[in-house]
Amino acid sequence: MLKVSNVYKQFGGIHALEDVSINLEKGKIWAMIGPNGAGKTTLFNLITGTLPADSGRIEFHGDDITNMKPFEICRKGIARTYQQKNLYPNLSVYDNIGAGLLKDKINEAERDKIVSEIMEFLGLTREKNEIVSSLSPLYAKLVELGRALATSPKLILLDELIGGLIPVETEKICGIIETLRNEGYTIFQIGHEIGPIMKISDWVFVLDEGSKIAEGVPDDIKSNRNVLDVYLE
Ligand SMILES: Nc1ncnc2c1ncn2[C@@H]1O[C@H](COP(=O)(O)OP(=O)(O)O)[C@@H](O)[C@H]1O
Ligand SMILES: [Mg+2]
Repeated sequence: MLKVSNVYKQFGGIHALEDVSINLEKGKIWAMIGPNGAGKTTLFNLITGTLPADSGRIEFHGDDITNMKPFEICRKGIARTYQQKNLYPNLSVYDNIGAGLLKDKINEAERDKIVSEIMEFLGLTREKNEIVSSLSPLYAKLVELGRALATSPKLILLDELIGGLIPVETEKICGIIETLRNEGYTIFQIGHEIGPIMKISDWVFVLDEGSKIAEGVPDDIKSNRNVLDVYLE
């Protein structure tokens, strides 16, 4: 579904990504872990067209999407949530989710149906008219996910959607991610909290200092020498 081949990205003297290649198949939960500054968010930025790659190639369903514009890539079916809050703080939950709708000529009734379904799925119906800046971190994350879902994606990139929450909230997010996978979405998530990421992901990539140092099923990654070295450093 998504094929990243030999991408490089440098910021001044920093090699944020060096010769990274990954391959994602449909219908699974894929994860990317690694220490701060490993290049995880940068890889998402390249995949979504937020930043141009220096070199390398990115294909989605066989189409070359390398350095396409973000809205073009979104229309092809790749949506994302952001590590830093990226919502319209003064707009409501309803309007933030609705901002993800791509259909140009959608009418009010269709819009309402789609946004209402997403709010219901995420448990946000009661918060419909709340201003996003007043929401708890969990609910703000759910709104970000809702906006991504409104774009009708096939692949959803989640940048630390799991993270910075109390355990019961993390569990709720994990349950939602698993439900989405079971409904046929493909998920690619970055995570810092290794426990829950390992629990729900089908396959894990490990980045360190811009390079992929390991990939495999969670049980193998947990005992991988290179990975342990990085996390015990
Ligand atoms: N827009 C940017 N300009 C300059 N340096 C950047 C930019 N984005 C990321 N970096 C640098 O690239 C490296 C990788 O960052 P990032 O991809 O955010 O790491 P991660 O998400 O794994 O923590 C870091 O050293 C970071 O400071
Ligand atoms: Mg990051």
